[in-house]
Parts: sequence; C-alpha cells; structure tokens
Amino acid sequence: MKDNIVLIGIMGCGKSSLGKQLAKRLSKTFVDMDAVIEKEAGMTITQMFETFGEPYFRDKETELCRRLSKQTGLVISTGGGIVGREENMTALGETGTIIFIDRNPSIIIRTINAEKRPLIRDNPQRLLDIHKQRLPLYRKYADRIVPNNRSFREAINRLMADITENSER
Ligand code: S3P
Repeated sequence: MKDNIVLIGIMGCGKSSLGKQLAKRLSKTFVDMDAVIEKEAGMTITQMFETFGEPYFRDKETELCRRLSKQTGLVISTGGGIVGREENMTALGETGTIIFIDRNPSIIIRTINAEKRPLIRDNPQRLLDIHKQRLPLYRKYADRIVPNNRSFREAINRLMADITENSER
C-alpha cells in the first residue's frame, strides 16, 4: 500500500474540503498544492497567472510534485490541471494512491468561486469544456474513482470505505 493519498479532479470537485477531513481521519498531514505554491511565491495563483503566465505556475506545480513524492504520510489535494503533465502523475504515483473525485460539472458551476480561478474567472461556463478535455485524463491516472454528487458526508464515507477496504488487501 502506497503511503500518500492524492486527490485529483476538476476545479470545485471537493478535493480540498474532502482532503482536509480525510487527513484528519487517517492521521495524515494535509497538503493543498495550490496553497503551498501561493505561500512559497508570496502571491495568489491569479496574480501569478497575470504576472508570469500559466507556464510559470505549471513549472512550480511540477517542481512541487517532485518534492511531495519524496515524502510520506500525506493527503495531497492537487490543482485541477495537474493531469496536464504526465511527469506530475508519475511522480505523485510513485508514493501515492491516486483517487479521482468525480463531481458533475453542472453541479460545480452553480457553487464554485470563479474569482479565485484564473482559467474560468471571465467565463465560468468554460469549466464545462475543461471538464470534457480532462475527464479522460482523470480516468486514466486514477487508481480509484469516488463520486461526489450528493452530500459531503456521503463522499467522505465512500472515500474512507474505499481506502480502508484497499489497505486490507
Ligand atoms: C487549475 C485549477 C486550480 C489551480 C489553478 C489552475 C486548473 O486548482 O491550480 O487555478 O488548471 O484546473 P483547483 O482545482 O483547486 O481549483
């Protein structure tokens, strides 16, 4: 059993809120990749996109994947675009079980804070196209898929059941 848990999925699918709770229940350390990148750079992701462009952010993301893959005892919430580079997933997959949090984008669009997300800030509907493009990648890289279309409680219970079941094998 790989020691880290890596949550992937589209913006607003629940990676951070589920990850935080999961880490608590599993007594692991929660890492929100976007928050680490923002803290280390001393600016928000939106500012980073505006000042240095998206590729700069993507390089920071890849570099962080490499670092995190050398650690253990983590629940990692990734940014939605993590699947765009294969090397990210190879690194994270070395020490982590990858779980795709699968949430219907039409539910997400109703609740997401687009302001904090430069890719959809000007046009939240764009989330639907991004979802279409990335869905095959989330599926490809997932060791397991956990749906999150109903309550938080149901999703966290499914996640916990999935992890406990598979650690007993
Ligand atoms: C992105 C998702 C964001 C953040 C950045 C780019 C993406 O993270 O990394 O705005 O490409 O989908 P969340 O998935 O946590 O919103």
